[in-house]
Amino acid sequence: MVKKLLVALVACCAVVAVSSIARAQDETEKAIEKYRQMLKEDPWSNPGLLDADRGEGLWTTAAGPNKASLEKCDLGKGPGVVDGAFAELPRYFADANKVMDLETRLLWCIEKLQGAKREDLVKRPYPAGGQPVKDLGAIATYVASKSNGMKFAAKLDKAQEKVVVDEGQAIFFRRQGPHDFACATCHADSGKRIRLQGLPFLSEPKEAQQVVGQWPAYRVSTTQVMTMQHRMYDCYWQMRMPELEIGSDVSVALISYLIKSAEGGDIAAPGLKR
Ligand code: HEC
Repeated sequence: MVKKLLVALVACCAVVAVSSIARAQDETEKAIEKYRQMLKEDPWSNPGLLDADRGEGLWTTAAGPNKASLEKCDLGKGPGVVDGAFAELPRYFADANKVMDLETRLLWCIEKLQGAKREDLVKRPYPAGGQPVKDLGAIATYVASKSNGMKFAAKLDKAQEKVVVDEGQAIFFRRQGPHDFACATCHADSGKRIRLQGLPFLSEPKEAQQVVGQWPAYRVSTTQVMTMQHRMYDCYWQMRMPELEIGSDVSVALISYLIKSAEGGDIAAPGLKR
């Protein structure tokens, strides 16, 4: 009898605990949504715009061994065309014979136009918590902001592009690493969360369209802009996988797949994240 009562009590506590966690999550999400709303009412209050401005300055400033600016960088719409370029990335670039997302293309331009060494560029590409996004990320934020309000319109229909999207999809669903995690373990269902953080259903167009276009994003919790390559790096780290190199084929494949899933979604960059 006592045992039965105990079991009932434990079950009851568990139900109460689970429902209070769910309530706390709802409240957190509502509070963040309210915060986003307040910032959106005054579009100039997004701190990520400071990095977009810094990125614009860097784009036009001569730098590197070649003392060249990035104004001749071809992001796919012709040398120097920034407006709307992000909305059509990733794409295949014949000069590099590769499919590239925004940050990978910027790395390429910095290497080819300014003469920087790739090894140096990929060594420590992301800021520590609380530090501002590095120069490459600031330039990416600037370029992405010039597609703000547009829709994702990367065609991804060339043979080379289709292969990369398919690779990204395969990696997304492939379980790997010491914890046997796939991206899909955390991102292929609605309503999942870790602690109080909601996990978007990224293989489903509706949820992908809502979130993918918000990157690069200003992250309130770390007070810095985080780029999409950085996001991939961080989720790889959460999977306890070896470090994901910026601009690597795997990172480009994953981003291409995510953008394909988000096709037609709105670009709202820089976005705002918790
Ligand atoms: C162990 C669970 C886990 C795995 C596995 C995982 N992620 Fe994540 N992911 C998270 C968490 C947690 C967040 C949100 C963090 C936050 O709220 O700041 C996140 C956020 C994201 C976001 C941003 C979502 C948004 O709200 O805008 C993207 C994109 C993403 N992950 C992609 C991936 C990809 C691609 C993979 C596979 C390489 C992957 N994730 C693997 C836990 C995971």
